[in-house]
Amino acid sequence: MRRKLAAGNWKMNGLTASLGELQSLASAHPDPLVDILVCPPATLVSAAAQCCATLPIAIGGQDCHAERAGPHTGDISAEMLKDSGACASILGHSERRENHGETSDMVRAKARAAHAAGLIAVICMGESLAQRDAANTLDIIAAQMALSIPDTSTAENLVIAYEPIWAIGTGKVPTPAQIGEVHDFIRTRLERRFGPGVGRGVRILYGGSVKPDNADTIFHVPNVDGALVGGASLRAEDFSPIIHALSEST
Ligand code: PGA
Repeated sequence: MRRKLAAGNWKMNGLTASLGELQSLASAHPDPLVDILVCPPATLVSAAAQCCATLPIAIGGQDCHAERAGPHTGDISAEMLKDSGACASILGHSERRENHGETSDMVRAKARAAHAAGLIAVICMGESLAQRDAANTLDIIAAQMALSIPDTSTAENLVIAYEPIWAIGTGKVPTPAQIGEVHDFIRTRLERRFGPGVGRGVRILYGGSVKPDNADTIFHVPNVDGALVGGASLRAEDFSPIIHALSEST
């Protein structure tokens, strides 16, 4: 049985005062039926991990370098994230693929580094609107899966986030049928590549404009094991009902 996962991606948002949101979230979900992961900016990982040490909220990074250490000004290694108290890292988010020229090969190298450091790799993938309109969605996902996911993946250290680029931060959400088609496709591919044990154990999240008012519908789509939430994860009053909807769907 896959345990559901509600993951928050704070992106480039959050100052020390934002840690209070984590306290509020934990107060609203003292004994959650689902896993909760919050990925604040790197500047807050250590403080957030300390703040959540006794709370049912895990902390993750938003990116890591493919190498363990070295002359990479401004970068952060997977080992550093782990050392700061993170247990996971988002990798290959479309904003990094687009704004930082990250290729799927680079994402795979980062994921391998994350695994070596003992982190869960939350690998993001998704199509643009032009790719969807051209009926290329599944081909794009197949290619991103083949190249972005390393062989070091297990049911425990890999989470996939399907995030259509056109749904991120736009308020546009695919239909349940569209989400289901891609999630089923990802599941089948995982089983084919890693075997039924790992393939059925990996959690597949949906991401892109998940809000309190659409979460319930999304969480009832088969093979949706949770969500990667951007904007609505910044405040406990928005993230909390999403976590509640996920718990209700179990
Ligand atoms: P959004 O972002 O929920 O604000 O659309 C999701 C994401 O980019 O992970």
